[in-house]
Amino acid sequence: MRFPKDFLLGAASASYQVEGGWNKDGKGLSNWDVFSKIPGKTFEGTNGDVAVDHYHRYKEDIGLMAEMGLESYRFSLSWPRIIPDGDGEINPKGIEFYNNIINECLKHGIVPFITLYHWDLPQTLEEDGGWINKRTVDAFVKYANTCYRAFGDRVKHWITFNEAVVFCDLGYLKGAHPPGIEGDVKKYFQATHNVFTAHARAVEDYKNLRQFGEIGITHVFSPAFSRDDSEDNKLAAYHANQYGMSWYYDPVLKGSYPEYVIKDLDKNGWTPDWTEEELKIIELAAPKNDFIGLNYYQPMRVVKNNEAVEKRDNSREKSTGEPGNSSFDGVFRTVKMEDKKYTKWGWEIAPDAFLEGLRILKSHYGDIKLYVTENGLGDADPIIEGEIVDVPRIKYIEEHLRAIKNAIKEGINIKGYYAWSVIDLLSWLNGFKKQYGFIYVDHKDNLKRKKKLSFYWYKKVIETRGEEI
Ligand code: BG6
Repeated sequence: MRFPKDFLLGAASASYQVEGGWNKDGKGLSNWDVFSKIPGKTFEGTNGDVAVDHYHRYKEDIGLMAEMGLESYRFSLSWPRIIPDGDGEINPKGIEFYNNIINECLKHGIVPFITLYHWDLPQTLEEDGGWINKRTVDAFVKYANTCYRAFGDRVKHWITFNEAVVFCDLGYLKGAHPPGIEGDVKKYFQATHNVFTAHARAVEDYKNLRQFGEIGITHVFSPAFSRDDSEDNKLAAYHANQYGMSWYYDPVLKGSYPEYVIKDLDKNGWTPDWTEEELKIIELAAPKNDFIGLNYYQPMRVVKNNEAVEKRDNSREKSTGEPGNSSFDGVFRTVKMEDKKYTKWGWEIAPDAFLEGLRILKSHYGDIKLYVTENGLGDADPIIEGEIVDVPRIKYIEEHLRAIKNAIKEGINIKGYYAWSVIDLLSWLNGFKKQYGFIYVDHKDNLKRKKKLSFYWYKKVIETRGEEI
C-alpha cells in the first residue's frame, strides 16, 4: 500500500527553536528570550538567541527541504516578531520575514502549514499575567487575525496552538517553562481555559473571513495505559486520560469540558473563572474545527500513586518527558517498564501504543480528520567517518509510519505526517545535544548544514509514497 494521494508527507519546526535573530528587525522580546537566561533553567544555559540561524539561512534550509522532496513544512510564527508588544503595532519586517518563508516554500511546491503559537509569548503579555490574564486571549485573537489577513491568500492550513498541556503544565505546575510557576493548580486550569477560549474565538474568526482553508489545534497525544490488570491501576489510567486527554480534546471536539474533571475541580476549588459567554463560544466553535493535530512521542504507563504528593520532583530533569513522577494531584504515577524499549532520554518507543491510542481516539470522537503534526526520535546521532548515520531514527519513523498505514487501513482518517524535526534544532530544556532532524547542524563549524542518512531515506519514502513501509 502507498500513502493516499492527498496524504501529506512533511516535517516540522518551531520559531524559537530554529530562527535565532532574537532582536533583529524590530522583533519584541519573547518570554523564552527572558526565561532561558535565568541560570539553571535550561541545559548548560542554552538559548535561542541564534538557535540554528534559520532567520538568515531559511533559503538554504527550504532548498534542502525541496531536495528531500518534502511535500509540506509545518513551522510556527513568532508572535513578538509580528506584534512586538503583544497587542499593539504590527512590525512590517516580521510580516516580510514570514512572507519570504511562505513564498520560498511555494516556489518549491512545499505546502506551508502554520502554527500560530508554539510557546514564544510576547514578554509584555507574560509580565501582565500571561495566559492567566484574559488580555492575552484578546491579544491572541488579534494576532491570529493579523496573520490570516497577511498570509491567508497563500496559507490554507492553520494550527492555533501547539500542545497546551505542555506549556500550561510546565509553566504553572512544574515551573520548568515560563512563567516558571510551581504547583499552582488553579492557575494551571485557568490558563488552559483561556487557551481554549482563544482557540475557539480564533477558529470563529477564521471561518468568518471565508478564506476557505482549514484550521485546528495540535495536542499532545499520550494515551495512558494501566501497567497491569489491577483495578486500582486501571482506575489510575482512567483518571490520567480524563485529565491529560479529555480535558484537552473535549472542549475542542465536543465543545464542553469532561464532567469527571469538572466535578473534581469544583470539589477542590480549582474551577477556572469562566463566563457563560466563554463556554458558549467554546461550544459553538467545536464543530468548526477542521482537524486535530497529534504530537505523538510516547504513551503513559500508569499505576496508582501511594506516595505523598509533597515528594513530587519538579526539577528540570523530571520535566523533560521521562516517566517516573507522580501526577500533580497525587492520584497516579507514570512508570518505566522492563519489557519496553526507551530512547537515550528515557522516552518509550511504542508504535503499537500509537495505533491502539488512535483506535481509542476514534471511538471517542468519531471520524475527525487527523494530522500527525509531530513524531520523531530525540537522539545523540552516531557520526562515523564524518557521516551522520542516524539508523535508529530511520527505524523509529518507519515503525510509526507503519502504524499510521495500519490505522488508515482500519479507516482512521489521517491526512498527513510531519516528522519532528526537519532540521536539528534547540530542544527547549535539553540544548542542542538531543537531535531530531533529517538535516544536521554543525555547531563547531559555523552552523554548517549536512544531510543525514535519514535525509536520503525520507526522500525515498516520499518518492515511493511509502510503498516499502
Ligand atoms: C514537543 C514540542 O513537545 O516535543 C517540540 O512541540 C519539542 O517543540 C519536542 O522540541 C521534543 O521535545 P524535547 O524535549 O525532546 O526537545
